[in-house]
Amino acid sequence: MSRRALLIEGAVAGTAGIGLGLGLSRWTGAAGDTEDGDSVEPAGAVEFYGRHQAGVETPAPARLVLTAFDVTAGSAKDLSALMKEWTLAASRLTAGHPADSADSGESEGLGPSALTLTFGFGPSLFDERFHLGARRPPGLVSLPHFPGEELEDAVSGGDLVVQSCAQDQQVAFHAVRQLARIGSGVVRPRWQQVGFRGDPGPGSTPRNLLGFKDGTVNPPPGTRAFDTTVWVDQEPMSGGTYMCVRRISINLSKWDVQTVPDQQVVIGRVKQSGAPLSGGSETTPLDLEASGPDGVPAIPVDSHIRLAAPQTNRGASMLRRGYSFDDGFDPATGAPDAGTIFLAFVADITAQFVPVQSRLAASDRLNSFTTAVGSATFAVLPGVSEGDYLARTLLG
Ligand code: HEM
Repeated sequence: MSRRALLIEGAVAGTAGIGLGLGLSRWTGAAGDTEDGDSVEPAGAVEFYGRHQAGVETPAPARLVLTAFDVTAGSAKDLSALMKEWTLAASRLTAGHPADSADSGESEGLGPSALTLTFGFGPSLFDERFHLGARRPPGLVSLPHFPGEELEDAVSGGDLVVQSCAQDQQVAFHAVRQLARIGSGVVRPRWQQVGFRGDPGPGSTPRNLLGFKDGTVNPPPGTRAFDTTVWVDQEPMSGGTYMCVRRISINLSKWDVQTVPDQQVVIGRVKQSGAPLSGGSETTPLDLEASGPDGVPAIPVDSHIRLAAPQTNRGASMLRRGYSFDDGFDPATGAPDAGTIFLAFVADITAQFVPVQSRLAASDRLNSFTTAVGSATFAVLPGVSEGDYLARTLLG
């Protein structure tokens, strides 16, 4: 493996806070050839082909461009044809090559940059328009209404999603630009959300805009716990997963005037170290029985982590792989328009995501600082092998 691949790998592994796991085995570092014979250095490329799509178990790089599309073509045949073209283009883009001969070229010289392109279908794709109702994956459900949310159509729903993640923003943007061009006439972009993650270095957990470490409790890649939490093992979705998207605005002005002890009570963890308020270090399991000298639970009953933890949700767990967003300021008030693009991957939306979200919506102390403004679910398609195309098991 080249030095550059190792450097990028280390940086991204640290960003994800997961260390060396199965995800890293998808990184390639060997020199490759373009079709026209030029030798290129694909260091930092993430393998596109495999049982699972990349971009879920693979380390999360610094940048996210998440784009939902609606299908505007008349038939499922057009959609199948597009998925074939997108599969080929994605395999080329993630290897650091132009998508096709009409590529706009702005990622020339930037390398693969750990680019992953992850494709999913939303529930609306299976409505009456394309006669695909019978092929809807049984687990693909829309989320119910949750108290407190203020959803906007402009950042919710969608027939298709493309999650583009890369170390370099321009590489992530470029890939989506090519896919949108190739899809023009069949799909039309519905919304786009652009996110970032801080990179505290190998082995450290990145912090969210609250200033807290975010991603401490996640199933470790390459483990049975990860597989059962994330991957579906039934056809036609075998090897796929479900993505739950929540765009959550954070009232940073209100958060910033809380004292650190008050902020810690909201989350249930120590701000600096990430340790649970029941003691230990960042990775110490929560002690939900622990109480202070006054008899009050050390991890408050309405704290975010107590209400979200699998221990208090009949074991329901999820992979969280979110990004922060910053869309500037509200011109009327000067308040920041910023927050979290919360992305969770689960094998079963109804059993794993909905109960936890319901509980949080009802009682989470964090709710007085956050508002969900966007929401969507997608069936993340099973991975493909070379010569095959994404969505074959669903579209036939
Ligand atoms: C802006 C919104 C949110 C913020 C800022 C936030 C922040 C945090 C932080 C700081 C932690 C502790 C560190 C960690 O384990 O990663 C955490 C844990 C967690 N959060 Fe959130 N979160 C948000 C929304 C959500 C939502 C919508 C869900 C699910 C529906 C969720 C589920 C979880 C889970 C499952 C944990 C791990 C709990 C444990 O087992 O200890 N979070 N979150």
